[in-house]
Amino acid sequence: MITRPVIRHDMTVVPPHKTTDDKYYVGFFDGDKLIAMLDLIVKYPDEITAWVGLFMVDSQYQGKGIGTEIFNDIMSALKKSGLKQIELAYAKGNKQSKHFWVKNGFFETGNEAQEPGYTAIVMGRLL
Ligand SMILES: CC(C)(COP(=O)(O)OP(=O)(O)OC[C@H]1O[C@@H](n2cnc3c(N)ncnc32)[C@H](O)[C@@H]1OP(=O)(O)O)[C@@H](O)C(=O)NCCC(=O)NCCS
Repeated sequence: MITRPVIRHDMTVVPPHKTTDDKYYVGFFDGDKLIAMLDLIVKYPDEITAWVGLFMVDSQYQGKGIGTEIFNDIMSALKKSGLKQIELAYAKGNKQSKHFWVKNGFFETGNEAQEPGYTAIVMGRLL
């Protein structure tokens, strides 16, 4: 269940050998309303890659091009910072998510991982 303590933990948790210096837990607002969020680790899993832990657009704002617009801005900022590629994983069977990432130039890397309750399919693209 998503609770305030779970979110507080998500805001600071990092993969092994990384520190919070490389973590960005970012909210995107329409006025006062939080409409999208991004959990990003830079230089992970290697020095030239950014890893997206989670990207989510409020359901009332989905399908309007907002996710694509935000993500294009993120990719161009990451590229300017010197990173070369971006990776993420979606839950196998989540067609909405897969379609969104394919539409935004991502392809399946062939890597997948068994997580509790789902299979994570890794996608990536060059910046
Ligand atoms: C995936 C997600 C981030 C896309 O954001 P968005 O603002 O809706 O995206 P855009 O409007 O820029 O792009 C729309 C595309 O997303 C997909 N999409 C968005 N809403 C959808 C819906 N309700 N049903 C099916 N596909 C949908 C479609 O592929 C659509 O492509 P199309 O324009 O060719 O139809 C958003 O739908 C979301 O937060 N989903 C739930 C969380 C999630 O799955 N996150 C990704 C995993 S890390």
